[in-house]
Amino acid sequence: MNKDKIRFDHAAFTDYLSSFLVIGHRGAAGLAPENTLPSFRKALDLGCRAIELDVHAVRDVEDTTQLMVIHDDTVQRTTNGKGLVSNHTFEQLTKLDAGDGNPIPRLAEVTALIAQHFADAQPLINIELKGKGTAAPTARFLQASPGLAVLISSFDHRELAAFRALDNTTPIAPLFERARASMLDTASALGASCLNVSQRMVKPILIEQCNDAGYPVLVYTVNQKLEAQRLKALGVGGVFTDRPDVLMALSGD
Ligand code: G3P
Ligand code: MG
Repeated sequence: MNKDKIRFDHAAFTDYLSSFLVIGHRGAAGLAPENTLPSFRKALDLGCRAIELDVHAVRDVEDTTQLMVIHDDTVQRTTNGKGLVSNHTFEQLTKLDAGDGNPIPRLAEVTALIAQHFADAQPLINIELKGKGTAAPTARFLQASPGLAVLISSFDHRELAAFRALDNTTPIAPLFERARASMLDTASALGASCLNVSQRMVKPILIEQCNDAGYPVLVYTVNQKLEAQRLKALGVGGVFTDRPDVLMALSGD
């Protein structure tokens, strides 16, 4: 590990939420093939200070784990392939077309793109642990790349707990698709920095309770400007959007 680089932590993460955060969902999924390098480039070119991506872990021919940036458990919706991601090797996945001739990227390719273009004001990368067994390889990846600004999230709170057991520094966000009485307890147990929730479950009282407990709320997936304005007025910290071109004017202040 490079000891000269300070690990990104909760305090550094809160800087990103000092003003409304427009997060490019799967890059700019409404403008380019989701979770591909052109999609991330598009979001960053539009001015996003944060992007979101989904990772699955697969093995390569040398039996090394590779983190692949793809949303579904299966490849057919987003590529020209068929079947479960987990039934593919790394080499098989890299041969698939994930849209407009672009391959499914490795996590390392996305972070390299960011390092190359944004050496100073580094965008936040929200890595969503989508597949089983992603906690350990992601923790190893971050240990080898200590300068990255990263938020780790997942609907699978056991995967998040496994990550937290290996990495007690990187900010974490449990994801929720419906409201639960135990949400704040879950966040506390994980040492979370914020809560990432579905647009469908947002109510003023929920945002107030989370904010009062010290947890900013990020909301997915918001593509309408009026809706984003309403959420911003409620005290939401930021939104995930497929259309950063539509929402970017709300970023900042
Ligand atoms: O992380 C926010 C959002 O990406 C969660 O839902 O299904 O788009 O990964 P999904
Ligand atoms: Mg996601």
